[in-house]
Formats: sequence, C-alpha cells, structure tokens
Amino acid sequence: MCSIIGYIGKCMAASVIVESLKKMEYRGYDSVGIATLERDRILLRKDVGKVMDVDSSLQLNNMPGQIGIGHTRWATHGGITKLNAHPHTDCTNNVVVVHNGIIDNYQQLKDTLIKQGHIFKSQTDSEVIAHLIETYLKKFDDVKKVIIETCKQLCGSYAFVAIFKSGLIAGTRLDEPLIIGMGNDGNFISSDVLGFLEYTDKAIFLDNHDIVILDHQHVNLFDFNGNSVSRPITQVAWELGDIDKGKYAHYTIKEIHQQKNSIPMAFQIDPISLQKAVDLVSSSKNIFITGSGTSYHSALLAKYLFYKSAKIRTEIIMSSEFEYMSAPIDENSVLIAISQSGETADVLNSVKIAKEHKAKILSIVNISTSSLARLSDHYVSINCGPEMGVAATKSFTAQLATLYSIINNLCVNERSVDMSINMFGNALNEILIDDSYLEKIAEDIKSVQDIYILGKSFHYPIALEGSLKIKELAYIHAEGIAAGEIKHGPLAMIELNTIVIVLNPEDETYYDTLHSIHEMKSRGAKIIGISNKNNDMYDYFIKLPLVNKILYPIIEIIPIQILSYYLALKKDANPDYPRNLAKSVTVK
Ligand code: G6P
Repeated sequence: MCSIIGYIGKCMAASVIVESLKKMEYRGYDSVGIATLERDRILLRKDVGKVMDVDSSLQLNNMPGQIGIGHTRWATHGGITKLNAHPHTDCTNNVVVVHNGIIDNYQQLKDTLIKQGHIFKSQTDSEVIAHLIETYLKKFDDVKKVIIETCKQLCGSYAFVAIFKSGLIAGTRLDEPLIIGMGNDGNFISSDVLGFLEYTDKAIFLDNHDIVILDHQHVNLFDFNGNSVSRPITQVAWELGDIDKGKYAHYTIKEIHQQKNSIPMAFQIDPISLQKAVDLVSSSKNIFITGSGTSYHSALLAKYLFYKSAKIRTEIIMSSEFEYMSAPIDENSVLIAISQSGETADVLNSVKIAKEHKAKILSIVNISTSSLARLSDHYVSINCGPEMGVAATKSFTAQLATLYSIINNLCVNERSVDMSINMFGNALNEILIDDSYLEKIAEDIKSVQDIYILGKSFHYPIALEGSLKIKELAYIHAEGIAAGEIKHGPLAMIELNTIVIVLNPEDETYYDTLHSIHEMKSRGAKIIGISNKNNDMYDYFIKLPLVNKILYPIIEIIPIQILSYYLALKKDANPDYPRNLAKSVTVK
C-alpha cells in the first residue's frame, strides 16, 4: 500500500526521491515524507497531502544530502497526521526509518520500549522499528546484526529501509516487496520498480528475509544468519504493476495459478490489433515463425494449428538457428517473432536478418515497450502481466491463446471455433483447484534421473515444453518425444520404473498414443497419464476436464508446470531462480 524509496549516490537524493514518489503515489497517497543525511545530520520533512503539494509547501526537493529515503503513506495504524507520516526517527536521531506493511505485535513492543524510557511521537506501528534499532545500536556496532536482532522482535509483514548516521542505508523485507535498482549514478531501494525505472532497468528482487546494505560503492546482501547471499540481476523492461508474490511462496506458483485469469484475458485481443495481425499474415506468401526456449515451443504448436485449422503452411525456425536458415525469406514473407520479454538477443537477431531481406515483422510479446515490439511492423500483446519466475508459465499459455486467436481468424468459417471468454467453462478452475495430487507425485518421483514425456500431433510441442519445465525447475533430465518415435530409439532407454508422462486426451491421437504407452509399459515404464479418460495402463492418472479438443494443449501443460514446481521444492531448488538461467537472455 505504502511506497518506499531510498537512494544513495552522486545526485542530490531528495530531488531524485520526490520524482520517484510521484511515480509510486498510486500505492499510497495520504501523506509523504523524506529524510536525508547531510554530513552527520539527519534532516526530516513530512506532512499530510499529495507529493506535489507537500513538495511545494516544504520544499522537499531542496533538502541537501546524497543519501535519502522517502515514503508515501496509506494509513493503517494511526490517523492521517503529520506525526504519523513516515519517516520515523528514534529518540537519538541516529536512525530514520520508512516502513511498508503491518507490525502485528507493535503494541507489546511499544509498551516494553516505553517502559525502557523510549519516547514515541506517533501512533503508528512503524515507529517501533526505529526504537528497536536504537536499542540494538547501543549493543552492536554492526548494522547487519542490528537489523537481524530488530527483525527477530517483529511479527507481521514488513519492508523497511533505514538510514544510519554512519552513512549507510539498510533494508529488509518479509511478505512485502523490496527491490534494489542498480544505477550508474547511484543505487536505489524501492517497493516498486517504478521508483527507479527512470534511472535504471537493472533490478534485484529481494527474497523474504534478505537484508541489503548499500553504501556509495556497494550493494551487499545477507541472509538472516548474516551470511552473504547473491540474487540475480534482472533486466526490467515492463510496465510493471503487480510484482508481489501475494499469498504464494514463489512467483512461479503464483503465475501458474494466475492462468485462471491470464488465459481468458489473452484471448481478449483488441480487435483492431488482431485484424492488423491477420492482414499481415494473409497478405504474405511465406510465413516464418521464430522464438527461443518456451516461445519456440509456442511457435511449434502454431505450426500444427496453422496447418490443421487454417490450412496454411508455415516454417518454424529456432531463433538461435535463424541466421543459418534464412535464405528463402524475402519481401513476400512475414516473420512472426514470439518472445515474452521482447529482448532475447537471438530473436532480435532473427528479426534484424528478416528485415534486411525486406520481410515484414509481426511480433507476439508481453512487454509492449520492448525492443522487439519497437522493431516490428505490428505487435500483438499477450497481456498476461509481468512474469517474474524465470521459467515461463503464464506467458506460454497466453502466447498460445494469442496464436489461437490469430489463426482462428484466418480460418474459413466452418473451421473456426468459438474463442469466446467462456470457452473453457470451469476447466481452468478445476485444474487449479488443488495441487495436492501433483505434489504427491512429485514426492514419489523426486529421485529419478530421467523423465520422458510423450505426445502426438499438437501434444508434441507440449511434451517439449513440459520437459523444459522439468529441466529448468527441478534439474532432472527430461525429454519430450513424439509418441510415434519411441520405437526409433527412445525405447532403448526404458527400464523398470522409468517415468513416462503421456499426454493422451481423447482426440484423433488417442489410440496411437495408447499403442506407444503399451510398448513403454511392457518394458517396465511407470506411466503418468494426463487425459480426460482413465486407463489401466496409468500408474498415476491426472484428470483433465472435458473441453473442445482443439484447446487441450493450452490446459494440459498446466499440470506439468505444477509438477515441475513441486519437484523443485522437493529437491530444495528455488523455483523462481533456476540455477544458471536468466529471464531475459540479451546476449547471443
Ligand atoms: C530464457 C528464459 C526462458 C525463455 C527464453 C525466451 O532462456 O529462461 O524461460 O523461454 O529465454 O524468452 P523470451 O522472453 O524471448 O520469450
């Protein structure tokens, strides 16, 4: 609700902070305050009102000092008054604090601190943090230790940032966002990337219980045991809004569950944008589709859909291979470039080559300010909101929904299907209502070395995407296989209890896939069936709801995403930050 910003660097902190607070004001808007450190003096100005008004009455902008913190408040504990506005100081003016969240046990803490002689100026829960820090500063001269001991006293949710007279800024969080922005002229600490996006797009998203200490040169991160930790630097390129984990332990599971809404939303493309995309494709003689990682799997599925539904032939080229295969692309061609981030270097390189050959570019992106969107003749937004988990989940299904819509509009009438918002009925809720069975399967299979996933026709790209999720999140070797191909090699790998996941809903692939399952099962494989229909062959059965057959690929990836997430947890891997991977790969 409240917004926090801290700055340490070469600029005058207050003027940077005022601008940042204006951008984050939507989070909280009843009062505002700034504290800066000038030599060894902490200066503080705050009042009730909007940032612009308080700035003009108190000249926040002119406060001296290159270290500062600022806050806009949305009152919870204590009325909307000047004294309750943040920042809050301790009794000695050695420290000043801004806080977002609620300290549940503040009254007990306050009573104890008052008995010890502390004098409180506000009715807020937040002020206890300043006085606790004061207490621990008398015992320890290590800021990290002071923060750790302070947090041990706090119950509730918090992100707080403090300036210490020694010239450091420190912050920590529990269930409230706190993000570091790493700029050329200084570093930021904020509850929202909007607080620093104007200055830098390099961000570190802190985890719960991370402690950060910033000085003029360094950003140091620690865990609650005082050990150094490192977090990935994320390149922020989206119009961010929702970057909190909410009630979920990780972004990844939050984003998987968000698909209940993001899939129907992705089908709601602006009709003018959709028509432009359809026109670009239908006016081109040759259609190429490219993407990397998950986005490449969307491209592969699009090939089946283009052909089966619209009877249009397309050529799919992995972006990293594009420069070796681009010969036939020309002015009669369109390249459909698919990318969540719109910043993947291989995709951008493919686009550059296609443009050199005078082809048109249609992109399908999540970030409409991305380089890819800007390079394209037209882009369609998949509209699924920011995706924080490194492994793509909701962006995959949103890409598919977007492709379905475009392809559906290219179909002659009798082959088009109902793409209305209700087409899934209750199916998404049914799949996402309870993860416990998938968690149990994850527990049972967490120690295996290999997992195979079989799918035929347009279930094959889903098998590939499912295996990518398992690799990325759980570090288990996984392979997606076109079901009919098992007898051409993969059968040699099957031994007693080899895990094979099969995508086998009741459509025209059902019986052929069943034959492949028999061949696997008779060689000892343990089968996890994903289908609307159970079968004796399955050791585990993951039931898919009944939907229009053409929609199965969109929903059948979801149980594999959930399974991969729980496999990661069982293996003590952090699903949000898979080792060695990055969300946006901006190098070739
Ligand atoms: C990275 C990510 C993958 C993603 C791929 C393509 O490798 O780790 O999850 O699928 O990039 O990203 P894009 O943003 O172009 O879809």
